[in-house]
Amino acid sequence: MTSITAASMKTKLLRTRPEDISEAGRLLSAGQVVAIPTETVYGLAANALDEDAVLRIFEAKGRPQDNPLIVHISAPEQLEQLAEELSPAVWQMAEHFWPGPLTMVVKKKARIPNRTSAGLDTVGIRMPAHPVARAIIDAAGVPLAAPSANTSGKPSPTTARDVLDDMNGKVPAIVDGGACSVGVESTVVDMTGDYPQILRPGAITEEMIAEAMGAVSTDRATLEGLSDDARVRSPGMKYRHYAPKAPVILFEGAPNDTFEAILAQMDQPWTGVLCFEEYYSAIRESKSRLVYSLGYSWDHAEHARRLFALLRRFDRTRAKRILVQCPRVHGANAGTVNRLRKAAGFQSVDCKKGRRVIGVTGRSGSGKSLLSQRLEQMGAQVLDADKIYAELLKQDCPMTRMLDHHFPGVWKDGVLDRRKLAGIVFSDPEALRILNLITHSQVKARMHYITAHSESPLIVLDVPLLFESGIDCLCDVTLAVLADREGSLARIMKRDGIDRDRAEARLNSQPDDDFYRQRADLLLRNGGTLAEFTEKIDLFVEKYCK
Ligand code: TXA
Ligand code: MG
Repeated sequence: MTSITAASMKTKLLRTRPEDISEAGRLLSAGQVVAIPTETVYGLAANALDEDAVLRIFEAKGRPQDNPLIVHISAPEQLEQLAEELSPAVWQMAEHFWPGPLTMVVKKKARIPNRTSAGLDTVGIRMPAHPVARAIIDAAGVPLAAPSANTSGKPSPTTARDVLDDMNGKVPAIVDGGACSVGVESTVVDMTGDYPQILRPGAITEEMIAEAMGAVSTDRATLEGLSDDARVRSPGMKYRHYAPKAPVILFEGAPNDTFEAILAQMDQPWTGVLCFEEYYSAIRESKSRLVYSLGYSWDHAEHARRLFALLRRFDRTRAKRILVQCPRVHGANAGTVNRLRKAAGFQSVDCKKGRRVIGVTGRSGSGKSLLSQRLEQMGAQVLDADKIYAELLKQDCPMTRMLDHHFPGVWKDGVLDRRKLAGIVFSDPEALRILNLITHSQVKARMHYITAHSESPLIVLDVPLLFESGIDCLCDVTLAVLADREGSLARIMKRDGIDRDRAEARLNSQPDDDFYRQRADLLLRNGGTLAEFTEKIDLFVEKYCK
């Protein structure tokens, strides 16, 4: 058995030109280890079928030998050479999610050495979406075993520089393919049972797999940690992971509540904070300079992209502890939240105050009011943004005073001259921006006040502009109702007594489905009949509101 002496090696940085890819391929087919970019995180790759090559990965990472590696392929057909007893569901999953951030655990063929699978009779296989990763697999001409390219226990690297920090002198080459677009590791799904089971959450979410496949479940250990007697389904669950040097203290709850809790805990020197963009300046100005932003509180994709790089950045500072605003726990954030909870040892500060605030949004005519009504029948307190705005307009309050200040003459004798105001903002984008700033912040302040003083355990904020107004920051979970265009048009025309052209114009001025898909924690589709939608609402209520 050959072994390498780490200190003697000079690490070469390769780029992604054809000659770089060829060189990476040559090193890999000669049994060497090369760090490669993928869309999730950088991987430390070696020939998956060569035990000596695979041993070098474990040595470079300092990884426990009982933690199996993921095998990377460049085309779905290559599955057959590595795995057996492949069910139709495996091919269906491959069809839906490959190439991409999905690893499937399947029964392994004997040609995969025990060292790669850590003695298990199964193996995790993934076809990455990153074109450079696939080109390198092709150049090597063999499937590549590749764990994340960090020293074991540290956060995974998402740039070549972060790989270099951990692997300089330990591997012959690193291919620099730029920053990873996803940022957290692939979703690992066990495909050996009756239905897919998620062992590690990632960018392919439970909701996405449910939509494609029907039944799916998530191992509880991914969100709660392992109980002492739990059976370990995936060896990676056992290890403390993703941890920067300073302890991570995770604050969970609505962004506004976690922000307040963090502000109250900043007295100790060298306190680092990882917070949402909305609170970045406030925290920096108040007490700490060790503050990094995860992006806007609704921006799931950005949280995942920035998370590991920022955790690593704290290691280059004198931070003694790191307070983290945890993204909302639902849907697309499952991967980010799982990594943060692991980094915090599955302990967190609960800022939820014993109640749940659900933000409901969607375009006109989507059917979101139906959802709010149903929740109201169940005893929820529903706050309707349009109604609150209308009430504020009738009062002498900060909102009407600000409107009068910025748009002189629009608020007279206790009534708003809507026509005049519309005339001003119609042709002046800056005036419209000011109008929105005033109305959004004041409706938000009102909703904040009411929710903070409410005794109700379930509060629904019905807000057409939930994300634009920042009112999502008051919510523990956000939900968007998406409806097909024809259904929405029919409902708008009927409800507001307007013709098709005006209904079309209204819909055209509102965001498209992607806007909500990128921001909302949960989506509810209103496509079929009223009965079908009502049934979906009841399922949602059963799952998230009890
Ligand atoms: O996105 C990714 O998956 C990255 C990139 C490089 O592809 N790779 C990665 O590998 O994250 P690694 O080794 O850091 O994590 C692999 C995880 C571990 O938690 C391991 O326990 C689990 O997958 N795993 C691997 N094979 C398994 C198997 N046969 N059964 C159960 N879990 C398995
Ligand atoms: Mg890893």
